[in-house]
Amino acid sequence: MCGIVGYIGYREAYPILIKGLYRLEYRGYDSAGIALPNRQNELNVYKVKGRVSDLDEFCKNKDVSGTIGIAHTRWATHGEPSNNNAHPHYSQSETLALIHNGIIENYATLKEQLIRNGYTFQSSTDTEVLVQLIEYMKILNKTDLCTAVQMALNQVVGAYAIAVVEENNPDLIIAARKSSPLVLGIGEKETFVASDASPIIEYTNRVIYLEDEDIAVIKRNAPVKFVTIGNVEKTHEIIKLEMSLSQLEKGGYPHFMLKEIFEQPRTLRDCMRGRVNVDCNNVILSGILDNRERFFNARRILILACGTSWHAGLVGEYLFEELCRIPVEVEYSSEFRYRHPVIFPDDIVITISQSGETADTLAAIDLVRKAGAFVYGLCNVVGSSIPRNTDSGSYTHVGPEIGVASTKAFTAQLMVLSMMALCIGREKKTIPEPRFIELLQELNSIPDKVEQILKTNDKIKELSNIFTYAHNFIYLGRGYSYPVALEGALKLKEISYIHAEGYPAAEMKHGPIALIDNEMPVVAIATNNGTYEKVISNIQEIKARNGRVIAVVSQDDTTVKNIADYVIEIPSTEECFDPILAIIPLQLLSYHIAVNKKRNVDMPRNLAKSVTVE
Ligand code: AGP
Ligand code: GLU
Repeated sequence: MCGIVGYIGYREAYPILIKGLYRLEYRGYDSAGIALPNRQNELNVYKVKGRVSDLDEFCKNKDVSGTIGIAHTRWATHGEPSNNNAHPHYSQSETLALIHNGIIENYATLKEQLIRNGYTFQSSTDTEVLVQLIEYMKILNKTDLCTAVQMALNQVVGAYAIAVVEENNPDLIIAARKSSPLVLGIGEKETFVASDASPIIEYTNRVIYLEDEDIAVIKRNAPVKFVTIGNVEKTHEIIKLEMSLSQLEKGGYPHFMLKEIFEQPRTLRDCMRGRVNVDCNNVILSGILDNRERFFNARRILILACGTSWHAGLVGEYLFEELCRIPVEVEYSSEFRYRHPVIFPDDIVITISQSGETADTLAAIDLVRKAGAFVYGLCNVVGSSIPRNTDSGSYTHVGPEIGVASTKAFTAQLMVLSMMALCIGREKKTIPEPRFIELLQELNSIPDKVEQILKTNDKIKELSNIFTYAHNFIYLGRGYSYPVALEGALKLKEISYIHAEGYPAAEMKHGPIALIDNEMPVVAIATNNGTYEKVISNIQEIKARNGRVIAVVSQDDTTVKNIADYVIEIPSTEECFDPILAIIPLQLLSYHIAVNKKRNVDMPRNLAKSVTVE
């Protein structure tokens, strides 16, 4: 994962780089570092284990002058988080410094070769091998930095986004990518390079997305040149981004996660805008309508995703099977790609990803495309790798999601999947027209209902005080609520570090009910829908074993209120849209428990926002 930022221009580089690192910290926060080539022909590297704030503190009395530099915030893959393993890494002679996002898979072989040629290593990372190899190529072939980078990258197996600077050359940054994201910001007499646009947007909205195997030669006061690692010159179109700086800030909330939870009424409306029209009873998703034949003749739908996006995919399965009568399989991208899957050319593959950069999902896309399937990308980050590698798709349009725990992206994924199911079902006539109208009207009311749920925040906060010190939680749901139980449990695990399991309520009696005692809080989603009566029986089974039940119920419920210890009410809706509402109180519950436990809510330990490594 890791965040990369670089600058060359007329301003002091250090403040730009530090600010950029703060914006990229969601990608990793094991260590942070910076390399600054200055006019005195020195190449200063400062790096520390810990956060960007620790780096900034460390640099207080250091020479950070200069108008060029590269910086990195790390999520460790090879080598523990430590000062030595922090990036940038120097080459042997300390004349080159490099930052890297990705994994050099053949680093062990390359390292052995370099050691045989007299190189010694300061870190246990895969990254250091690359900077040493670049130096070795430079010396061996008496060549310039760009050619040396090219030669080194031709020997590398794996994924990388890199930036390299050299001593005695404060006018040049070389950047390159393969399977890890990299974007350039093109300003007036200044150029930025970063893992995503967030460090750049304050200065320019003109960007270029690098493609796999591209090398960018970024020179002071000159247009950026592009060449591939195979030495083919290239040009790139400049894209204008629509993102604003305010979207990247907390806007008065103590955490991004809380801000993002509270943004949901708006983000859900944004997601429907221009797509759902209740006046003329229409839902328009051009990604589907432009490819209607493929969708209507699909043998099956395969949904590929990871984490929270995979939970959204499970809801998608219920939606497409109920409303479109198309068989659906939902797979973890990471499992799918390594198990010789059967893929038919008339399959529709829907990939779901907030970041659009998840390495396992990208690799799974490659696989299904090779088999001739049609790939639809459901993604949040505009211009990211997934939308650029799929046949068609829809954006969720929720703006940047900064909190590592996904909230507003999840509900928007559910919204897009609901719109997709309505769009396909109507065209296929698997949804009768009066039912379609009913569902569409209801979908349109969802943002208002989310707004209503958010008003119960204080009550949920009180409830969180009762359960802050529980060691385990079980989340239960059936049908459409089962994926909500999984997602509720994941939210709690991620940010509070409390062990939690999501389970289909009826499966409890096949084993996990043995865990129930008076110390085990059980969160049951028991809204007044399809399996309501059955879930009530499951709650009774828990109560009979002294479990403590917190139930999410529909507003007018009377039955569950008499059985459960605590209830959280949400407005009634159609069963298929219930997950969008039911997850909101569970997001809030995890948030407040994590705050009570003084956890780092936005940047929980060991995690990173986008998982761009396998
Ligand atoms: C969500 O809270 C998690 N941090 C994580 O499971 C995430 O959903 C997963 O890594 C997939 O990411 P993506 O949606 O960006 O592909
Ligand atoms: N493999 C590098 C390291 O461990 C970079 C990790 C990453 O990009 O996630 O330092």
